[in-house]
Amino acid sequence: MNDEHRYRSLRRLVLACMILVPAVPFIAALVIGYSHFTSALETGTIASMKRIVADHRHMLETFLDERRADLELIAASYTFEELAWPRSIQEVFRDLQTGSNAFVDLGVFNEAGVHMAYFGPYQLTGKVYREAAWFQEVMKRGWYVSDIFLGYRNVPHFVIAVVGEDESGRWVLRATVDSNLFNDLVKKVRIGRTGEAYIVNRNGLFQTERRSGGELMRSDPGMAEHVRRHPGIRTFIDKDPQGVEHLYATTWLEEKDWMLVVRQEKADAFKALRTTVYLVVLILLAGGTGIVLTAFVLTSRIVRRMERMDVEKDRLGEQLIRATRLAELGEMSAGFAHEINNPLQIIKSEQALIDTILDELRERGDLPASPDLEELRDSMEQISLQIERCSKITQAILKFGRESEPVTKDIDLLSFIPEVASMVEKKASVHGITLEEELEPNLPRIHGDPAQLQQVLLNLFNNAVDAVIARHGALGGIILVGARSRGDGQVAVTVQDNGCGISPDDLDKVFSPFFTTKPVGKGTGLGLSVCYGIVNSMGGTMEVDSEPGKGTTFTIILPAMSAPAGKAGTTVRDDGQGCEALSAA
Ligand SMILES: Nc1ncnc2c1ncn2[C@@H]1O[C@H](COP(=O)(O)OP(=O)(O)O)[C@@H](O)[C@H]1O
Ligand SMILES: [Mg+2]
Repeated sequence: MNDEHRYRSLRRLVLACMILVPAVPFIAALVIGYSHFTSALETGTIASMKRIVADHRHMLETFLDERRADLELIAASYTFEELAWPRSIQEVFRDLQTGSNAFVDLGVFNEAGVHMAYFGPYQLTGKVYREAAWFQEVMKRGWYVSDIFLGYRNVPHFVIAVVGEDESGRWVLRATVDSNLFNDLVKKVRIGRTGEAYIVNRNGLFQTERRSGGELMRSDPGMAEHVRRHPGIRTFIDKDPQGVEHLYATTWLEEKDWMLVVRQEKADAFKALRTTVYLVVLILLAGGTGIVLTAFVLTSRIVRRMERMDVEKDRLGEQLIRATRLAELGEMSAGFAHEINNPLQIIKSEQALIDTILDELRERGDLPASPDLEELRDSMEQISLQIERCSKITQAILKFGRESEPVTKDIDLLSFIPEVASMVEKKASVHGITLEEELEPNLPRIHGDPAQLQQVLLNLFNNAVDAVIARHGALGGIILVGARSRGDGQVAVTVQDNGCGISPDDLDKVFSPFFTTKPVGKGTGLGLSVCYGIVNSMGGTMEVDSEPGKGTTFTIILPAMSAPAGKAGTTVRDDGQGCEALSAA
């Protein structure tokens, strides 16, 4: 329960780190990139808007200047007398039209504001303009460009007037500008889908039509607060009465109180921004999902591995305790054997004494021969035999527990292997296992510690017995121990069984200390690792070959001595004796 809680908080911690560590720079990069992009886009859009409005103003001012220059040229070239004739004004108008068809009519006024001559689509001759604001203005300033107005003709138009002067006095030449042409000139600006240009006068009345709606001479309520003279170009963002946000660039014409407005819907102007927002959201979603998924997968892997390592650690701890306990047990049994040995020796000598006394009595004829006497003799023999056996057991225990330096000797495997085999024969036969030997004659001797080699072989036999029982139970097991010369100066000893085999996954691990597949209390996982160490110290190697469900072969390869085994060599048999007693016990 406690562990579970620990793993859960560990999992939470790892998960949080794995998500936050990459997510923070990821989001920061996106936010910084996005804000840089938007400010660059805004600056770029506003700059291009300013450029457009400046170019356009220049173009319109040039247009008005040229028209004024046209009229001034006429006023300078002709006298009032010459122009006041209807025919001549018609000719002058025709000449004017060849240069530019921006005008729709032309008229001449005397100093009193009376329309003296007129050429154009209306009938205006004779009308008096003395009180008209435009007339007073032109007489004062010498030239005049009007706002759009209705006038006598009752259609919106605007006029340009200039003053002429000759010996007859001052007079006025006035022409009406084709408002459609001027309108088109102003309107022709196109930016994006909703970009448009128009002109408003000082009072905020449209002087040209607005494409998105705005009739001539009407006012734009949304613009009221922005119509005030300002130098240069002004840009701002504002909502129109419909609530649509627009990006505006405004500028005033130099010589006329007209404000040129260029505007575009904000959404249209910053269209690229919307695409970027989609892209950023998409990246955020995809990247975020990627980070979170990876974090989840990695976290559960890491935590699972840690859990497994903890379990392994606990198991190793338990095995260490068990191994220590076994060592203590070994020490105790050695002491025990030592204690038993002394009384055993006394019993033995007492028994020998009884035997001698009995013999003497019989020789002296004090004990007549009888069946009882024979029985007594048999008993004595039996006692002697059992004492002998007990003493062998205690010797073996003492030898087993003794911490001794390795004693190396020449070992003749031809006799050594059968001795060790005989130690497990009984155990094998109890489980219905057939023990076979396949020893090559004339096998070279090897050099090593017989006690250690014996331990190696016993470990292999015991493992084989366990594997065979695991597969066959008490019937059908075969263990084959073999020895042969490999011809390269080495001898191979094999222990082969038809047991359960080892899975390929486990095959690499069998020599690792504490690796065991056996239930707790049965295996220590130390057997093979100890064998490996021993064989290594003898200058040899150990190999394993196994097929799950078929069987396993362990091979020990040891360096051979040059002389083949023969009668001259010492055969080591002493260890076998003791252990045989042990295994029999
Ligand atoms: N002859 C064999 N057949 C099948 N498995 C074996 C054999 N010998 C060893 N093993 C496997 O190797 C493991 C390690 O063996 P060992 O080091 O002797 O430790 P232990 O016998 O205490 O488990 C065993 O648990 C078993 O899984
Ligand atoms: Mg073992």
